[in-house]
Amino acid sequence: MAYKVRFVNYPRQYQQLKGKFDGVFEEVMSGGDFIMRGQLERFEKKVAEYVGTRHAIGVNTGTDALYLSAHALGFGPGDEVITVAHTFVATVGAIVQCGATPVLVDIRDDFNMDVGRIEAAITSKTKGIIPVHLNGHACDMEGIMEIASRYNLRVIEDAAQALGAQFKGRRCASFGDTGIFSFYPAKMLGAAGDGGMVCTNDDVLARKIRAFRDNGRVDSVEVIECFGWCTRLDNLQAAILDMKFGYFDGWIERRREIARMYDEGLSGVGDIITHPRANGDFFDVYQNYVIRSGHRDALVKHLRGSGIEVLISWPVPVHKQKALGLGHFNLPVTERISREVVSLPMYPELTGEEAEMVIDAVRGFYG
Ligand SMILES: Cc1ncc(COP(=O)(O)O)c(C=O)c1O
Repeated sequence: MAYKVRFVNYPRQYQQLKGKFDGVFEEVMSGGDFIMRGQLERFEKKVAEYVGTRHAIGVNTGTDALYLSAHALGFGPGDEVITVAHTFVATVGAIVQCGATPVLVDIRDDFNMDVGRIEAAITSKTKGIIPVHLNGHACDMEGIMEIASRYNLRVIEDAAQALGAQFKGRRCASFGDTGIFSFYPAKMLGAAGDGGMVCTNDDVLARKIRAFRDNGRVDSVEVIECFGWCTRLDNLQAAILDMKFGYFDGWIERRREIARMYDEGLSGVGDIITHPRANGDFFDVYQNYVIRSGHRDALVKHLRGSGIEVLISWPVPVHKQKALGLGHFNLPVTERISREVVSLPMYPELTGEEAEMVIDAVRGFYG
C-alpha cells in the first residue's frame, strides 16, 4: 500500500538538496576520484574533529567497522566479549566472526546495556565489552569505562545509531578503545548506499585498521604490512556524506523537535510508554523514536492500516534467533521490550503535519 507517512523518505531529501547532491556527483566524476581520495580524507578529518578522536577511518559498513575493531583488538578463540541482545545482529556477529564467544547481558528501560549486570558476566576469559548506544541515546559510559579499567577490558562502542549523541558533554565513540558509526541510508547521517567508520585515539590501532581496510596497505601501495580485507569507504559516498554533514547539527535539532511533539502528543495516551527521556547527563539525537505498548502488534496493524509506516526493531532479539545458537541466555527485560516496541517515523524532513498524523493515528487506536 502507499503510505501517507513514510518511515523514511530518501527522495524528499534528494529533492530538497538536489543542487548539492548533483554538485558532488559532478565534482567526483569529473575528477575521476573514486577510491581513497581527497573527499574521503576531508570527511574523515571532519568526523574525527566532531567526535573528538585523533583518528576516523572510513570503511565499507558499520558491520565491518565493528569486525575490524574486534580483530585489531585481538579478540579471538577462547575470549569472551560482553554485549547485548537488543541490537542489530552485526554487534554480536563481530564477536563471533573473530572466533570469540559473545556473552549477552540484559538492558534497562532506556534500551541500553544494564551496567549493573556487567560484573556478574565477567570471567577469567573476558576480553572486552561492546556497549551499544541505541536509538541515538548514549550508554552510561562512566560506569562502563570504570568496570573496563578495573578488569583491564577493551571497549568497542557501537555508535552505529548515535553520531552526535553525548554523555556528560562527550560524544559517543570517543570513550572506548574504538567507536564505530554506520552510514546506512536510514542512519543519522546516511550515504547513498553503505558506509561505516571507526574512530579511535590509539595510533597503533588506527594504523592496524587502516591496513586491514585496504589489503594491508597504509602509506604505499607497494608495501604490504599484513593480510587484510578490501573494505574502504568509497570516495563518492564520502563526498556525499561530507556535503550532508554540513546540515547535520540542524538535522539533530529537527529530530529533537519532532521528539518533543511526539512526547507531548503521546504521553498519557492508552498504555503507551513514550520514548525514554534523558536526564541532563545525556544529549539524545533520536536516531529512532520508540514507543512501547502492551498491544503492540494490534497497534502496528492499526497504524499501517491508517497509512503510517512503522518499524519494529527488533521483534526477535538476537539470542532468540534459532539459527545463531545463543538460546541459553535468559534476558527478561530484552524479551519483554522486544514484544512492546515500535519505532515511529523520525527524520529531519518529516513535516509537522505528518508528525501530527502519526500522533492522531496512535490516539485513534485507543479511541
Ligand atoms: C546498532 C547497530 N550496530 C551495527 C549496525 C551495522 O551497520 P551497517 O548496516 O552499516 O553494517 C547497525 C546498522 O544497521 C546498527 O543499528
